[in-house]
Amino acid sequence: MRLLVAGRFESVLGSRRRRGVYAPHVAFGRGKSKFELKSPSEFAQMREAGLIVAESLERVRRTVSPGITTLELDAIAQSCIRGAGATPSFLGYHGYPASICVSVNDEVVHGIPGARVLAEGDLVSIDCGAIVNGWHGDAAISIPVGEVSPHIQQLSDITREALWAGLRAVVDGARLGDIGAAVQASVRRSDYSYGIVVDYVGHGIGSSMHMAPNVPNIGTAGSGPKLVTGMALAIEPMVTLGTAEVDVLEDDWTVVTADGLAAAHWEHTIALTEDGPIVMTAVEDEL
Ligand code: MF3
Ligand code: CO
Repeated sequence: MRLLVAGRFESVLGSRRRRGVYAPHVAFGRGKSKFELKSPSEFAQMREAGLIVAESLERVRRTVSPGITTLELDAIAQSCIRGAGATPSFLGYHGYPASICVSVNDEVVHGIPGARVLAEGDLVSIDCGAIVNGWHGDAAISIPVGEVSPHIQQLSDITREALWAGLRAVVDGARLGDIGAAVQASVRRSDYSYGIVVDYVGHGIGSSMHMAPNVPNIGTAGSGPKLVTGMALAIEPMVTLGTAEVDVLEDDWTVVTADGLAAAHWEHTIALTEDGPIVMTAVEDEL
């Protein structure tokens, strides 16, 4: 999700909060939360959407190989989502023309499927969203095409590990800043100095794909609003081999690294349910 004001998420969030424009789902349920709080039956529908996203991504992952076009991957994902009785959330979203985002190598996020043919050594990130009865799931994976170089594989592994570090920070009573802090610390544990993209962030999710709060991939532990039962968040670290600076291509969608080096993107939707945290878009919970 794109930030309204790059690098100034706290102030964007702050001013929106003061104006209280986060309706229709503000401050209901258990009192004072600024965020949409889901009931168990709403979470059950999000879980359905999440599993359909997981299955669609798995189908795409198994199909990725040198020679396939990114548009073929989109067709597979779309038929998987629709075949499961769900709706692709990306299609038509602010005019977006496809059911998944396919971002190759230096493309960070929001790559549009098309005639591009995947080649051995590419790293391709697939982002997928589905809606079941109005409830959303959103997830992304990075996939090596054939054999990739060790540093490309490490980039993907580090990003995936950072995602899971962020997911593990989502516990009742923790703070929003704990998530970004965990993602950042996880990436920084590595010897290599990866870039952590800050112009795009994770997000609240539920009756819309993108809702408050923003979930940045850097942060200060102990800061920000409390995470409470009923919340659902999409956490989505984007990590690069070089600069964290990004540009948007002329198609107005594709986000690329400013230095042309590769990026990886992994995402899950996580819910704080009455039974604890559940990764809605994971088949097997690795928490
Ligand atoms: N999962 C993506 C995100 O959170 C959503 C892509 S929206 C689309 O940024 F319109 F680009 F598909
Ligand atoms: Co997302």
